[in-house]
Amino acid sequence: MTEKDFLPAPYQHFSKNGKVTWKAPSNIALVKYWGKLANQIPANPSISFTLDACATTTTISYQKKEGNTGGFSFDLLFEGKPKTDFKPKIETFFNRIADYVPFLKEYDFTIETSNSFPHSSGIASSASGMAALSLCLMEIEKQLNPEMDEMFFSRKASFLARLGSGSACRSVEGDLIQWGKHPQIPSSSNLYGIKYPFEVNPIFKNYHDTILLVHKGQKQVSSTVGHDLMHGHPYAEKRFQQAFDNLDNLKSIFAEGNLQDFIKIVESEALTLHAMMMTSMPYFILMKPDTLEIINKIWKYRSESKVPICFTLDAGANVHVLYPESVKEKAIQFIQDELVAHCENGHYICDRIGVGAKKIMGKK
Ligand code: PMV
Repeated sequence: MTEKDFLPAPYQHFSKNGKVTWKAPSNIALVKYWGKLANQIPANPSISFTLDACATTTTISYQKKEGNTGGFSFDLLFEGKPKTDFKPKIETFFNRIADYVPFLKEYDFTIETSNSFPHSSGIASSASGMAALSLCLMEIEKQLNPEMDEMFFSRKASFLARLGSGSACRSVEGDLIQWGKHPQIPSSSNLYGIKYPFEVNPIFKNYHDTILLVHKGQKQVSSTVGHDLMHGHPYAEKRFQQAFDNLDNLKSIFAEGNLQDFIKIVESEALTLHAMMMTSMPYFILMKPDTLEIINKIWKYRSESKVPICFTLDAGANVHVLYPESVKEKAIQFIQDELVAHCENGHYICDRIGVGAKKIMGKK
């Protein structure tokens, strides 16, 4: 599919008003997206586990405008309170997607959004937030064009979410989502995420992700700035190639359930992401001393116990601890005994691989 395929046919009927609600989860990348071209096109393909517990729920109420003022009209409530500092981000997003959802200018909207995870936990809500918002917009579009099929609905929701925040396009469906054109993955696309189309061993079906909240404050460098620093980065081309290769190598690992090789790729991806940050100009470090303490403890525990537990990182100091269902008790015990001491106020979130976004409500 190309961008043009997401331009809608003329709407069949305009409802006067309505209300829709979607809940979308966060996701954690195994092969990381870091570096992009114009229009949120990724410099390399990525793959992620869709999460379950960490999610954003968004409700959009809409009312047909009296006259067409030409611009966007929306109010924004975050956790029940007006949130004006989120408005510019939404305005930018609406500008990017206006051609694909032209009804945006026809309505007054109230957007109410809330996260399942605590505010300022250091967990980025942009992926779940942009996915939930995009799904609500697609729900409205579906009411205007009711014959839309499910596949198109999900693809376009992912397409729109990508234009809000790249990794958000992997937060529409579950449970293993791939995004970015890859020559060996036939249906892959730079425009939206797809369900990983190859065999996946059942060991990956109930994977756990315990998120250790090492640092809850604001990051010093946003991911927008970080992506940008990959332009002219001395190691960029090699890194992008590595991501392509890692996706290739994951194919047999996923099929066979080879956890040793899975761990090698996942941990290497996490450290490479941070290595790219440390070798950018200007350079920066998002890990904290406790991030490294946790990594070292995981390595020591894994080598002594042979329990297949590993870590990954997103663009921050928090550590995602990944392990299969079969070692859940041991892993939780280890986390509580050894790792929780490194979390800010002892806080962590028990999450797991999930099935994707859910419609909560959608009626005229
Ligand atoms: O979606 P963005 O622009 O916030 O970038 C996310 C980048 C990483 O989380 C670091 C990696 C990824 O693939 O999710």
